[in-house]
Amino acid sequence: MAVIELKDVKKVYGKGEAQVVALKDINFKADKGEVVLIMGPSGAGKSTFLTIAGSLQKPTSGQVLINDADISDFSAKKSNELRLGKIGFVLQAYNLVPFLTVNEQFTLVDKVKKQNNLSKAELQDLLKQLGITKLLRKYPGELSGGQQQRAAIARALYANPEILLADEPTALLDTQNVEEVGQLFKDLAKKRDKAVMLVTHDPRLEKYADHIYEMMDGTMTKKK
Ligand SMILES: Nc1ncnc2c1ncn2[C@@H]1O[C@H](COP(=O)(O)OP(=O)(O)O)[C@@H](O)[C@H]1O
Ligand SMILES: [Mg+2]
Repeated sequence: MAVIELKDVKKVYGKGEAQVVALKDINFKADKGEVVLIMGPSGAGKSTFLTIAGSLQKPTSGQVLINDADISDFSAKKSNELRLGKIGFVLQAYNLVPFLTVNEQFTLVDKVKKQNNLSKAELQDLLKQLGITKLLRKYPGELSGGQQQRAAIARALYANPEILLADEPTALLDTQNVEEVGQLFKDLAKKRDKAVMLVTHDPRLEKYADHIYEMMDGTMTKKK
């Protein structure tokens, strides 16, 4: 069973002359234990695809299924619960709460989602793997772009989601960090049985992917 599936998903922004068809009949499936890359130029529809897959916004038509349940017409409340429990996001823009330290970002997750987060030991391992153990007391504004990105990845993973969605997760990272983060995504898929979906321009991530899709003008083609 696919953990996430999109069936004939279409997304149209705006009306009349200003109308933009961002997604045209997208059919897509992802399984646990796999890393899927969605590549393509700016404006291709990648972020739209990811936010619809993660139920941050609704398709104009078509269905989104999570564990075979159609979430297309979930209420806002049900979508929130679903996201909280099953989906981790690492978004392109700022993810971290600016007035909380890195450590407090995790405490915040504990407040909103009280169960099934990583244990203290698992969090320590994750922080170590990401090389951010020493940054726990710092505020986001005191971190480099790459450090912020790694902290955002840690926070998304802390909630132990089944599906991890990341938008340009390596945009701010140097090559060594890209390799580490790429390997981390792969380990998450293989060892913790997550479905990892990454939207990226970054060819350095290709070697970590089980499947690669190319997005162009709102259509998706499977490359691997
Ligand atoms: N909220 C929005 N309102 C109107 N048009 C949008 C909106 N978000 C994205 N678009 C348009 O939809 C198309 C796809 O955008 P996007 O999904 O952000 O692509 P990508 O992430 O591949 O750069 C673009 O033409 C973009 O301008
Ligand atoms: Mg984008």
